[in-house]
Amino acid sequence: MEALNKQKNSRHLSKLVISIFLLFVILILLHLQASPINSSYSPASSGITLISRLHDSVTFLPLKDLRFAETAMEGNTWFMSSLNDTREKNEAEYLYFPSQASKGRLLCIMGRDKADGTKNSYALAWPETLPNSATLLKGLTFVSDTYFDYKNLWHGLCAVAPFVGWSIKNGCMMPDRWVLFHRGELRDRMGLWLHQLMETNFGGDVEVEGFEREGRYCFERAVVMRHNLGSMGKARKLEMFDSLRCKARRFCGLNPAGKGLEVNERGKPIIRLTLLMRRGSRSFKNPTAVIQIFAKECERVEGCILNVSQSEDLRFCDQVRVMTNTDVIATPHGAQLTNMLFMDQNSSVMEFFPRGWFELAGVDKYAHHWMADQSGMRHQGSWWEPLDEKECPFPQHDPDCFNFYKDGQVGHNETFFAEWATSVLNQVRSSKLEQVAKNPITTPGANSDACVC
Ligand SMILES: *[C@@H]1O[C@H](CO)[C@@H](O)[C@H](O)[C@H]1NC(C)=O
Ligand SMILES: *[C@@H]1O[C@H](CO)[C@@H](O)[C@H](O)[C@H]1NC(C)=O
Ligand SMILES: *[C@@H]1O[C@H](CO)[C@@H](O)[C@H](O)[C@H]1NC(C)=O
Ligand SMILES: *[C@@H]1O[C@H](CO)[C@@H](O)[C@H](O)[C@H]1NC(C)=O
Repeated sequence: MEALNKQKNSRHLSKLVISIFLLFVILILLHLQASPINSSYSPASSGITLISRLHDSVTFLPLKDLRFAETAMEGNTWFMSSLNDTREKNEAEYLYFPSQASKGRLLCIMGRDKADGTKNSYALAWPETLPNSATLLKGLTFVSDTYFDYKNLWHGLCAVAPFVGWSIKNGCMMPDRWVLFHRGELRDRMGLWLHQLMETNFGGDVEVEGFEREGRYCFERAVVMRHNLGSMGKARKLEMFDSLRCKARRFCGLNPAGKGLEVNERGKPIIRLTLLMRRGSRSFKNPTAVIQIFAKECERVEGCILNVSQSEDLRFCDQVRVMTNTDVIATPHGAQLTNMLFMDQNSSVMEFFPRGWFELAGVDKYAHHWMADQSGMRHQGSWWEPLDEKECPFPQHDPDCFNFYKDGQVGHNETFFAEWATSVLNQVRSSKLEQVAKNPITTPGANSDACVC
């Protein structure tokens, strides 16, 4: 009996202890909730306050980081310097948002300044906690920064080409808009040629964002390129140029596969030689004489047809058409030569330079050698008008001296031009004869499904 009572008592006691303990816990909890310091940790309000704090805490950094001004062409560049590129073998370096690398954060930009890239800024933010009053731009945005520009055909192409490559690799994804920077300064348009090339490639309108309204913009999805073609591999470059060529021809109502191997009524290959003339800077001093030299040499090679075109008079699709119908392009150095990409692969380029270029121009004079290599063409060398004696006002200072000669007119040397033309035409002819021998039934344009996208 006593034992039973004891047991009952101890049960009472333990109940009491538990009750007191529970009361204590409740009191502590109540106290916590009432305390102003800790109130934000209550389950009801913690989310909201934390989120509103995160909205405020998004840090914007200058788009152009002057600490990297000296090495802007290397490494991470000075554009969005805090972010590392994604590197994949044979691909141009890029950044994609949101991604694992961005920890799921979107890219935001506050960047309307057209004169000073340090006044523009960028940040990363989670979709739930975008910076206050930010505008969310839906869809896919291509964000480009280039050291060159978007007006010059060649420079512009270098900047946008990696996006074409990225799109091919990613199921032909189309951008909803472009955001263009030149050394961190906003640009609200591309040159006309480049704009049209992008329209033919991506279809529809190419919309370049101008950030009309002051404020912050965040992008639902964004690809950033800041190294031009960067580390894109040779095969990828060829594929990218094939795509540009194919889609431009299709857009212009031409056979996307090009003219293929044409033969005359005697079964011999046709060779189309185009002299693409310029007016003003780097035009031929004596165009009539140059045309005569090439006409004469063309006449001597069976199957050769000469076409003389004035580059400034050609609208976009005229350029595509003329180049599609060209096996050998002969033209002075200049942006019009960027059109070489519209020729069938393995076509030839002959380039002419005025005085001073060979001696003073630095490596940039080889830009079209590189482009020919990248787009699958054969650069057949250059003619450099001899400089002889420097006449520039500052002969000791090469950059100034080069500017003196840069846009000069191009003279000619009949012997040199005639021998060079003969040699290139004969080379093209024998390689075409070889093709005819291998495949006597030529069906130009058989491969009209060539466009990747
Ligand atoms: C970027 O790469 C460098 C060098 O590999 C590394 O030290 C740095 O931590 C990286 N930064 C970020 C934000 O990943
Ligand atoms: C030859 O040039 C003219 C003038 O530029 C052009 O209209 C014509 O289409 C060209 N011919 C071919 C076959 O491309
Ligand atoms: C271009 O020339 C190379 C080398 O002669 C050849 O392998 C290739 O098949 C040619 N490409 C085309 C499209 O004719
Ligand atoms: C013209 O070119 C030929 C062949 O390359 C060369 O022998 C000759 O010296 C050149 N003439 C002049 C005036 O430069």
